[in-house]
Amino acid sequence: MRMEGLRIAVLGGRTGLLGQALSKAFDNAGALAFPLSRRDCDVLDPMSVEQWMDRNDPDLLINATGYTQVDLAEDESEMAFALNGSVPPLLATLAARRAIPFVHYSTDFVFNGRKNTPYTEYDEPSATSVYGISKADGERGLLKLGYKRTLIIRISWLFGPGRTNFVKKILGLADAHKKLTVVNDQIGSPSYTPDIAANTIRLLEKDATGVFHLANSGATSWHGLANTAVSLANKDCTVSPVPTSAYPTKAFRPPYSVLDLSKFIRTTGLAPRPWEEALEQYVRGDLGLGA
Ligand SMILES: NC(=O)c1ccc[n+]([C@@H]2O[C@H](COP(=O)([O-])OP(=O)(O)OC[C@H]3O[C@@H](n4cnc5c(N)ncnc54)[C@H](OP(=O)(O)O)[C@@H]3O)[C@@H](O)[C@H]2O)c1
Repeated sequence: MRMEGLRIAVLGGRTGLLGQALSKAFDNAGALAFPLSRRDCDVLDPMSVEQWMDRNDPDLLINATGYTQVDLAEDESEMAFALNGSVPPLLATLAARRAIPFVHYSTDFVFNGRKNTPYTEYDEPSATSVYGISKADGERGLLKLGYKRTLIIRISWLFGPGRTNFVKKILGLADAHKKLTVVNDQIGSPSYTPDIAANTIRLLEKDATGVFHLANSGATSWHGLANTAVSLANKDCTVSPVPTSAYPTKAFRPPYSVLDLSKFIRTTGLAPRPWEEALEQYVRGDLGLGA
């Protein structure tokens, strides 16, 4: 499908980290994005989404909403399961009624992290946190519904403009402290939200459906990501590696959740750029830091 002239509803598009990048990318591709907040329509009330769709007649429905607070989800499992588990198939049903494509985002946290080679779309979800289990529940609901024009994109470790994120937090801490410690025994694939948005468009242009993994190329630890960001920003701060046991968290996080991108590359003929290059664009370009 071509993007020019399409009317695209982006749930989570007004305030969400990914949603904002998607809205911008669709507009840049010649579509008309409608960035929606929960005030425009609350996804927990699918009737409000349906009424919005009746009024605005979108050609594509994108779900960039979610319950994204990984530790808090352990205490608020009802809300996490409602937003991440129940909502996606309800939204896909609304898209199916109009016969328009539906795009949903899931996470590397659907995996338990016990592998030591990149996770493919054929690996079974095996989540170990409420957040991960609720996201896997949403995926399962969508697959069970079986609406053919559904695209589920698993992404990981987001950073980008528009909302706070791990990289932004680290750079703020580096202003206030000369030394930081960050865990180096969780390995994943950092993802720059404008790249995820642009590559979502590449998949839509190929009429891709089903499950896809998407991130920037390469892998690192949270320490590697933090250290590179602090160096790029020329901050006077030393970032030292520590084990996860130094920072106990309520939710268990997968020690290894690198996503295999070969299905994306085969489908689009394009390889996402390395995370280091994308991080440089974020730190030096978007945030205007460093040399
Ligand atoms: N962040 C990551 O590292 C990461 C990694 C893997 C996968 N993902 C997935 O990617 C997707 C987007 O993540 P993100 O980090 O961009 O999320 P985010 O910044 O937390 O944004 C979530 C969006 O959902 C909206 N929302 C929440 N409840 C809503 C409701 N009831 N009705 C309407 N809108 C509602 C929020 O609006 P308010 O601002 O009003 O709350 C916000 O705009 C999620 O599905 C997430 O699971 C994220």
